[in-house]
Amino acid sequence: MDFFHYQDNQLMAESVSVRRLAEQFGTPAYIYSRATLERHWHAFDDALGQHPHLICFAVKSNPNIAILNIMAKLGSGFDIVSQGELERVLAAGGDASKVVFSGVAKSVQEIRRALDVGIRCFNVESPAELYRINEVAGEMGKIAPISLRVNPDVDAHTHPYISTGLKQNKFGVSVDEAREVYRIAAELPHIVVTGMDCHIGSQLTELQPFLDATDRLIVLMEQLKQDGINIKHLDLGGGLGVTYTDENAPHPTEYAAALLAKLKDYTELEILLEPGRAITANAGILVTKVEYLKSNEALNFAIVDAGMNDMIRPALYQAYMNIIEVDRTLAREKRVYDVVGPICETSDFLGKQRELAIAQGDFIAQRSAGAYGASMASTYNSRPRAIEIMVDGDQAHLIKRRESFADLWRLESVLP
Ligand code: LLP
Repeated sequence: MDFFHYQDNQLMAESVSVRRLAEQFGTPAYIYSRATLERHWHAFDDALGQHPHLICFAVKSNPNIAILNIMAKLGSGFDIVSQGELERVLAAGGDASKVVFSGVAKSVQEIRRALDVGIRCFNVESPAELYRINEVAGEMGKIAPISLRVNPDVDAHTHPYISTGLKQNKFGVSVDEAREVYRIAAELPHIVVTGMDCHIGSQLTELQPFLDATDRLIVLMEQLKQDGINIKHLDLGGGLGVTYTDENAPHPTEYAAALLAKLKDYTELEILLEPGRAITANAGILVTKVEYLKSNEALNFAIVDAGMNDMIRPALYQAYMNIIEVDRTLAREKRVYDVVGPICETSDFLGKQRELAIAQGDFIAQRSAGAYGASMASTYNSRPRAIEIMVDGDQAHLIKRRESFADLWRLESVLP
C-alpha cells in the first residue's frame, strides 16, 4: 500500500499535487512519500513482533540522506556495501552499532573505518576477506564481529542479473565450505563469530526460495553447534519482491510468519532482515515531462525528459514499471506509446507499448521508482541528475537539488 493516488483526477503524493510539484521544481524529479516509507518499514518490524530482530534497511536501494534519516528515526539498522554508504548513514544520524557491512570487495580502508565507528557486524564473503579483517582488527587492537555470508545454492526464480544465491554467483562462501571457514574464523584472535547471513536475490515473488535457504542455514547452524560455535543472529538478507504491475509478491507479514514458524525452536536467535526494494520501490515515482510526440508507420513515441541515466532498470533488466498521467482532467486522445528518453541509445526507454492520454508539455509519472532509480542514476550524455523531493503530509521538501552544468566537470581539469 502506498500514498500515491488520484484526487479529482489529479495525481497526489500524500496531500500534495504532483503537477504542482513538477511545475514548481521542474522535471525530471523523483518524488517520495514519507508515510509510505514508514509504513513499509513498520510492516517488517511489526511482522517479527516479539522475536528478537533488527530491520537493516538496504541503503543501496535509495541512499538519499533524508531517507536514511527517516529510517534512523524509526530505529532502523542499515545494510551497507561500501564506505560511501557508511558515511551516508553516519551523516544521516544512523547508529553505527546497527550497521551490517556486506559486499565482496571490502578494502583495508573500509574495514578500518567500519571498525573505528564500531559497526554491528561484517558480512564476510570469502576466506581472504576474513584474514584481512583479522589483520586490520589486530593492528587496531580490536575484535571484529563477523557473520559469514553463506551461498545456499538455491534458485531465487528472479532475473539472472539480480540472482545471487547460486553456485555460479560471486557472492558468499558455499554452504559446503562454510563449516570449515567458520572453524578458521573461530580460531582467529581478532575475530568473534556472531552471525550467519545469506542474500539469494532480489525481487523474489515466492517465499519458497527464502525458506529453502533458511533450512540450509539451520542445518549449518546445528553443525556449528557441534563444533562449539554459537550463532547469535541469522541475517536472511533482503530480496522480498514488490508489485510493479501484476506480480503477487508476498506481504512482509506472510514472509515473517513463515520464518518464525521455521525458527520457533530458536527463541534466542536474533533475526536480521535487509529489505531495500520492499521499503522504497513503491514509496517513489519518477515524474517527467513530455517534450515531444512523434509517430512513424510503426509506432508512436512519447519523448520525455527522463532517460536511462535517471532510471536504468528497463534498459538493464527489461523491468516493467507502470506509467501514468499526472493530470487526468486534460482532454487528450488515448494512444499507445513507446515512452523514450533523450539519451542516444536504443535501450533508452521507460516503457514500451503504454496506453496514455497525453499531449506535448504534459507530465507523466513512472511508478515504483523509489528503489534503484536515483541510486543507479548517472550523468551520461552530460545530463544533470534528477532532483528528489520528499512529501510529508501536505508539505514537500527538496531533498536533492539539481546539479548545475559546472557540477558535471567540477572534479575534472585540463592539462597545464
Ligand atoms: N542485502 C544484500 C546483501 C544485497 O545484495 C541486496 C541487494 C539487498 C540486501 C537488498 O535487496 P532488496 O530487498 O532491495 O531486493 N538494481 C537491481 C537490484 C539489485 C539488488 C542488489 N542487492 C534492481 O533494480 O532490480
